[in-house]
Amino acid sequence: MLRMSIMELVMTTDALTCTPEILAATQADYAKVAHVIPQVEWPVHAPYVHAINTLKREKNAVILAHNYMTPEIFHCVSDFRGDSLQLAQEAARTEAQVIVQAGVHFMAETSKILSPEKTVLIPDLKAGCSLAASITGADVRLLKQKYPGLPVVTYVNTTADVKAESDVCCTSSNAVAVVEDIAREWGVDTVIMTPDEYLALNVAKKTKIKIIAWKGHCEVHERFTAEDIRGYREANPGVVVLAHPECPPDVVAEADFAGSTSAMIGYVGDHRPGRVVLVTECSMSDNVAVNFPDVEFIRPCNLCPHMKRITLAGILKSLQTMQHEVTVDPAIAVRAKASVERMLKVGKPKAVLQAAE
Ligand code: 13P
Ligand code: SF4
Repeated sequence: MLRMSIMELVMTTDALTCTPEILAATQADYAKVAHVIPQVEWPVHAPYVHAINTLKREKNAVILAHNYMTPEIFHCVSDFRGDSLQLAQEAARTEAQVIVQAGVHFMAETSKILSPEKTVLIPDLKAGCSLAASITGADVRLLKQKYPGLPVVTYVNTTADVKAESDVCCTSSNAVAVVEDIAREWGVDTVIMTPDEYLALNVAKKTKIKIIAWKGHCEVHERFTAEDIRGYREANPGVVVLAHPECPPDVVAEADFAGSTSAMIGYVGDHRPGRVVLVTECSMSDNVAVNFPDVEFIRPCNLCPHMKRITLAGILKSLQTMQHEVTVDPAIAVRAKASVERMLKVGKPKAVLQAAE
C-alpha cells in the first residue's frame, strides 16, 4: 500500500495550511510539546493552534481539557487542564461566557449543570463513555426501590438524569471521602455506588463502609490485567506502576499506587521515579512526559476512542460555528446540580487510593 506523508495527507483534505508567519507565531507553543511531537508534524498542528487561540479570545471562550487529550490540545490551546473533579470545579468558577469541553459528553453536561447561564460546546457529540452508557435514571430508581434507605453515590461518568436520581456524585479522586461523608450524614453503614463496579470494589478496600456496586466498566481500563502488570515489571526492572482505580481490583493490587489521572501526575511530580508506567489512557504519558523529561515513561496503554474524537480541527469548528451546544433539561439539571454540588462540598480529596501502603 502506498504510504502518505503527513504533509501529503494534509494536502488531500480541507486542512488549514501553514505559513512561515504561523510557524513563527506558534514557536512558543511548539516549545511546550517539542519533547513529544516531532518537528516535522508541527506544521499540521500550528495553523489550528494559532486560529483557536485567536478565536477563543474574540469569543470570550475557555477550553477545559481533560488529562486524556492529545498533547497539542492539552498543552497548546487549553486554558485549564485536569481530572474530572478539577474540570467540574473550574466549570463552576470560570467567568468566560463560552466553555469548550475538550473531553467527553458527560463532562460537558456537568459543566452545563454547574454553569447553566453559559454556552457549553462539545466538538463531537459522539464523544461518549462506556460507563455513562451502562446505566439510566430508571435503573437508579429501581436500585432505590430494591435498597430503600441507602444513599446512591454516582460517579460523574454518567448522564444528567442518572446524576439527578442520585444523592451525591463522586470522581475517582474523592470517592472514598464522598462515600464516608454520605454514610455519616445518613447514619448508614452501606451505600449504593454506580456505575463503575471496579471503582466501587477498589473504594470498598479503603473504607469500612459496605458498598453495593453496579456492573458498569470503563472500556479502556477493564482491558488491563494483573498479568500485564507483572509483565511490565519483568521487562522493565525497577519500574514504578501507577494504575487508575477504574482498573480491575487485581490490577490495582499489583500497582505501587492508584489514583485519579491528576493524582498520578502528582505522584510523578512528588516522587520523580526513574521509570514509570501509567496504567491508563495513552495520552497521559505524553502529557506528563512534557513536564518531566528526566523520567522514563514505559508506554503500554489503551486508547479511549471517545476522548480521541476531540481534535484541534473539531475544536476550531466548534468555536467558528458555536456547535455542538450541550443542553440539559432544566428540571433534570436542578436535581443533578444538587448531587454534583453535594460532592463539591466534600472538598479536597481526603485520600487517594493507594495499593501499597
Ligand atoms: P479522572 O481524570 O477523574 O481520573 O477520570 C478518568 C476518566 O476515565 C475520565 O473519563
Ligand atoms: Fe469513559 Fe473510560 Fe473513556 Fe474515561 S477512559 S471516557 S471512563 S470509556
